[in-house]
Amino acid sequence: PRKLTICEAISHLQVGTKIKVQGWVRSVRPQKENLFLHVNDGSSLQSLQVVASSELNHRLLTFGSAVEISGSLVTSPSRKQEVELQADQIDVVGECNPVDFPFKIKKKHGLEYIRQFPHLRCRTNAFSSLLRIRSEATAAIQQYFKPAGQEKNQDEEGHQHFFSVPAYLTVSGQLHLEVMAGAFPGVYTFGPTFRAENSQSRRHLAEFYMVEAEISFTQSLEDLMKVMEDLFRSTTEHLLDQCPEDVALYHKHVSPGYRDNVDLMMKKSFNVITYTEAINILNSSSKKFAFKTDWGCDLQTEHEKYLVKHCGDFPLFVTDYPYALKPFYARDNQDQPLHTAAAVDLLVPGVGEMCGGSLREDRLDLLKTRLAQAGLDEAYGWYLDLRRFGSVPHGGFGMGFERYLQCVLGVDNIKDVIPFPRYSRSCLL
Ligand code: 4AD
Ligand code: MG
Repeated sequence: PRKLTICEAISHLQVGTKIKVQGWVRSVRPQKENLFLHVNDGSSLQSLQVVASSELNHRLLTFGSAVEISGSLVTSPSRKQEVELQADQIDVVGECNPVDFPFKIKKKHGLEYIRQFPHLRCRTNAFSSLLRIRSEATAAIQQYFKPAGQEKNQDEEGHQHFFSVPAYLTVSGQLHLEVMAGAFPGVYTFGPTFRAENSQSRRHLAEFYMVEAEISFTQSLEDLMKVMEDLFRSTTEHLLDQCPEDVALYHKHVSPGYRDNVDLMMKKSFNVITYTEAINILNSSSKKFAFKTDWGCDLQTEHEKYLVKHCGDFPLFVTDYPYALKPFYARDNQDQPLHTAAAVDLLVPGVGEMCGGSLREDRLDLLKTRLAQAGLDEAYGWYLDLRRFGSVPHGGFGMGFERYLQCVLGVDNIKDVIPFPRYSRSCLL
């Protein structure tokens, strides 16, 4: 018999042939003459129904056990599935004691419950769906940047005492991308990023994945916003197209209308306001909103979520933040009455900040002054060189991959969209 994945088997292209499948038992239903099993191998959300004579029943054939089954793939008489496997032989490859196994047959376990078992949760439908979605989203992001002929640069990451000297974990690939943007029209990177966030919030991790892009020869935030919006759309379109069932599994748990929100994000342009307008909105909502703030203060998560709601519960770009709030590389908006930088964040429903970016300061004298003020001029001599030799106006942004997944799937806690979440005081696995 030919070995097939469950996904291949249920595609009913092989009906009428002898096949072999390997996977994990998702349900066992012994009846008088027949035994009904559902077997899943992670290749699809759907499981394959297996029908066997009761004689093939075995005390080790339990929920969660690993099996290898051969038999004939036939059209199913039931309307519940198109094909089923009539088993000739069932071997239990790895047993699973149902009393000790933390997941129970026929029980709907919530994301919070399964999070307690990071080493086992990929055995649940919800988490195996998530892993297929991550894989497709990763492919879509690479695909999005590829056709434009953009060049790839991998972040470096370090370990403590790498080659017996202290090494560092990268917080962003941006400065390296800026180097590459000095020789290409556009560059991107996609990889793990590390932040010593001392936060137990539902949107912060100590290790997360970030997509970063840097675009050369641009002088407008609109160019950056267009790439952010296009990246969001093309990745999401790919997901809805390539793994609709997996995405639907998540949407079903959020709210009946969640898919409609996502569909609208695919069609309608994202909203745009300035930071100054955002502060005015926050401060004029006196009755409803307790988190008043002043011009010059950074937006907190609660502010961001309020602004998104206020602007139609829809993705929102906030532009032109106070200059003093932004790092040395952000471009000074010298033409504006209030001192701002050409920076932009993309805020999304349920999450708040999903992307952050800016135009980069390309004027050598301004950059020199700012680096000196920050006491960084010695360490960043090489960065000044980038403005000396064939410098071009450029800008870029970073998108948090896990926050993107939270937004598209409607997942409340970031720890539920990454295989092994690392956060403050929890970097065990
Ligand atoms: O806003 P951030 O810090 O921007 C940068 O690092 C820039 N150097 C990017 C660039 O311009 N190339 O981070 C970018 C995004 C955030 O908007 C957020 O989505 C995500 O990365 N992010 C986190 N995601 C999960 N856990 C954390 N601790 C995160 N910190 C940032
Ligand atoms: Mg930011």
